[in-house]
Amino acid sequence: MTLPLTLDFAPATPAAYDALAGAEGRLVLLLPPDGRLGALARRVNRAARGAIQRALEAKAWEKLKPGEAMELAWPAGLRAEAVQLVKLPARATVAEARKAGAAVGRALGEAGAVVLAAGQRRVADIALGLTLRAYDFGRYRTGEAAPKPRGLVMLLVDDPDAARAAMGPATAVAEGVCFTRDLVSEPANVLTTSDFAARLADLKTLGLKVEILEEDDLSKLGMRALLGVGQGSESPSKVVVMEWQGGKKGEAPFAFVGKGVCFDSGGISIKPAAGMEEMTMDMGGAGVVAGLMRTLALRKAKANVVGLVGLVENMPDGRAQRPGDIVASMKGDTIEVINTDAEGRLVLADVLWYAQERFSPRGMIDLATLTGAIIIALGHEHAGVFANDDRLAAALLKAAGAEGEGAWRMPMGPAYDEMIKSRLADMKNTGGRPGGSITAAQFLRRFVRDETPWCHIDIAGVALQSKDTTLAPKGATGWGVMTLDRLVRDLLER
Ligand code: BES
Ligand code: MN
Ligand code: ZN
Repeated sequence: MTLPLTLDFAPATPAAYDALAGAEGRLVLLLPPDGRLGALARRVNRAARGAIQRALEAKAWEKLKPGEAMELAWPAGLRAEAVQLVKLPARATVAEARKAGAAVGRALGEAGAVVLAAGQRRVADIALGLTLRAYDFGRYRTGEAAPKPRGLVMLLVDDPDAARAAMGPATAVAEGVCFTRDLVSEPANVLTTSDFAARLADLKTLGLKVEILEEDDLSKLGMRALLGVGQGSESPSKVVVMEWQGGKKGEAPFAFVGKGVCFDSGGISIKPAAGMEEMTMDMGGAGVVAGLMRTLALRKAKANVVGLVGLVENMPDGRAQRPGDIVASMKGDTIEVINTDAEGRLVLADVLWYAQERFSPRGMIDLATLTGAIIIALGHEHAGVFANDDRLAAALLKAAGAEGEGAWRMPMGPAYDEMIKSRLADMKNTGGRPGGSITAAQFLRRFVRDETPWCHIDIAGVALQSKDTTLAPKGATGWGVMTLDRLVRDLLER
């Protein structure tokens, strides 16, 4: 799937405006808080016989925060179906600019929009917010409910060439986020492990190197922790390796690792029926890694980055893994499987180890919808960040802050590690209810070398939202693509 709409830029001149002014659809005015009208906005106001000016003098305008909008429907004197007045200071923050764009994207219909953005810097952020909020996963809605195509959005700006140039990286980010959202939204009968791998193989057209390891390969590598999770499924387990080599030749890459459980029924430790349908999103970590790699390739990032995802399905079956089974990981450590529903850590254990053995990465970040406990701890506002390296954690939290994606550092320590000691094996895969997200992170840490700076991000609470958010409609958010793209810029591209 591609982006939800088409954007274009034209110069904010009277001639360009007059050429578009006859268009139906929406007319959007981005205006400073004091409501001062520029030349084009005055033209609109005259045509509307002063209606814009009157609206700006109303209390409703005063009450708006930066990035918020109000609307005049079927304004007399204009052909537009509506005029949207968006409050946006000329020196807006990134967050305000994206929010303003999102107000436009949310309201956008079939007839498209003309957006007067003269005097605005951060045009690319306005356009990014617009695009992300206009996203709609509508593949499976038919008839009346079928998604309507969005009309063209024409932005009138001071410098169309500069805007187009700035749009390049922003479009790459939008493409990555929408790719992640598509993957997370797909049902598990469509997005099987094989279908997921095929979609990743398609990224080769962008210049990424993509390699798919099949069960035979994984078996030879000794990834029995990962294979145990998938052994009850008809879908074959896979590991997909995506390499982007945009940096110095021979320089060690940074590694991103994703949990890709295409469906998590819990296995023999089966989950309750209520809400189980949400476990189609349990590949969200792999989805973010995929979206990030797409973004990096599209904007030709000057960095060496490798993305690895473990794709499995966790099902109950005659051949499925049992509670009490003991498996040997690729690293060699043995694991007692207490609960087959604590499967994500089993998958990640082998992929993390493989990533280090093969690439000796200069740093490593894994993402996973790993625990329900992180939702108890942080709700749906912040992802949980665990780390063995304060510098990497600080850089990650800074990038998340700059992108407006919630992230919160969680503690680790030997006392939590004690909780996953096993009587029969080197460790067990659950540590009980207390600190459930932390014991999961301690488990992963056993598969990370001390010399590898590493963060684990538990995105169980943020990958999916039950309500609309500023930049996304209800559903898959793509949380993390923007943060990690910025982290790559901050850490690897300077
Ligand atoms: N995929 C789930 C975690 C999850 C829960 C993601 C809710 C998104 C929303 C994970 O595999 C799981 O089942 N974790 C168990 C671990 C427990 C058995 C130790 C959990 O959180 O209950
Ligand atoms: Mn599970
Ligand atoms: Zn899971």
